[in-house]
Amino acid sequence: MKIGIDKIGFYAPHLYLDMTRLAENRNIDPDKFTIGIGQEKMAVPPMTQDAVTLAANAAVDMLNDVDKEAIDFVIFGTETGVDSSKSAAVYVHELLGLNPYARAIEVKQACYGATAGIQMAKAHIAMNPGSKVLVLGSDIARYGLSTPGEATQGAGAVALLISAEPHILAVEDESVYFTADIMDFWRPVYSDKAFADGKLSNEQYIAFFSRVWEQYKTKADLELNDFAAVCYHLPYTKMGYKALKTVLDEGNEEVQERLLTNYKLSTVYNRNVGNIYTGSLYLSLLSLLEQTNELTAGDRIGMFSYGSGAVGEFFTGILQPDYQDYLSIERHNALFASRSEVTVSEYEAMFDDALPTDGSAVELEIDSDPARVCLAGIADNKRQYVNKEKNTTL
Ligand code: COA
Repeated sequence: MKIGIDKIGFYAPHLYLDMTRLAENRNIDPDKFTIGIGQEKMAVPPMTQDAVTLAANAAVDMLNDVDKEAIDFVIFGTETGVDSSKSAAVYVHELLGLNPYARAIEVKQACYGATAGIQMAKAHIAMNPGSKVLVLGSDIARYGLSTPGEATQGAGAVALLISAEPHILAVEDESVYFTADIMDFWRPVYSDKAFADGKLSNEQYIAFFSRVWEQYKTKADLELNDFAAVCYHLPYTKMGYKALKTVLDEGNEEVQERLLTNYKLSTVYNRNVGNIYTGSLYLSLLSLLEQTNELTAGDRIGMFSYGSGAVGEFFTGILQPDYQDYLSIERHNALFASRSEVTVSEYEAMFDDALPTDGSAVELEIDSDPARVCLAGIADNKRQYVNKEKNTTL
């Protein structure tokens, strides 16, 4: 039985910062951000968006009534969750009106959480072939104003519907995963900003890729020439390129050209959104699928997932017949086209603005946020979520 990605949804906040403006303001050559790091625009979340709302907005237009009834497991990968006890998946389950006979959990391992979710979903569907699983990867990447990590911030979510006989990508069984205790990136519970040893994280990302790739080739008896494309976790778009470069000479000339072309296409969305942590690899896959007409059914796509701390995994998927018919290119184009630019000072003010942490209540103005699902405030220490269409408040 084939199991894999049946639908993919994506959401980013309606505001963005132009990286050239940020560079100029920080007295940095803009080429460092646009070429050296490879980012053009960075999504800026308003106070009315958090990991829960971003994920709900990624899934809300993707699911039909049949999906909502069939989903019996919601797995929410995030490293910027909103509660230490209650899972973000439970909020999303209610906001989307899913079948109540479902499991709902949150998974954390830096940017790797959604990959763990997909593999758990695959095992669940193997045991329950009629089920569908909603896997979410949703985050707000925050390093701090004027820090080296600032240019690699972003916000957004990807929603993946995992099912048997999937319409987009069948996930293959061979997979190699690797764990080692590395302090390259972490966020203590008292901090709303991540700490990163940037150079170490770059180094470890490539070292983990190399380890899982080498082992994968032996385990699966495949080589680079067997791949139509390789998608990478993209904290910034230059990062995956650095890893791809280390294996490129394993392929013949035609393969090298194909992988480089497809790599570029797989970075278009990420280049315009920034780092979305858990969703980044899947945003890259979506970008590739929605930016090319050259891929065909049966093509194998490699996927490298990396979550600092650190866990890495290399796995693969096979494109399914007519997969293009199951993408939502128009919706995603409309999302990008409708975004508004903010100035550096507006971004800085939004970055410094924070929800109360002393138990006091707050009401947020949600009319200026075009998103369907918004955070409307906090009352009695409870986040108040609104699905504007369902007219429900949680
Ligand atoms: N024109 C073109 N390229 C330029 C440039 C210019 N004027 N100035 C610098 N660059 C290049 C550098 O050569 C470098 O490229 P390279 O990595 O291919 O050598 C790149 O831009 C970044 O410059 P660098 O000096 O290394 O940046 P930095 O020290 O300010 O920080 C990160 C870069 C990624 C380490 C930092 O943004 C960070 O810590 N991010 C968060 C952690 C992260 O994303 N880790 C990734 C793995 S999970």
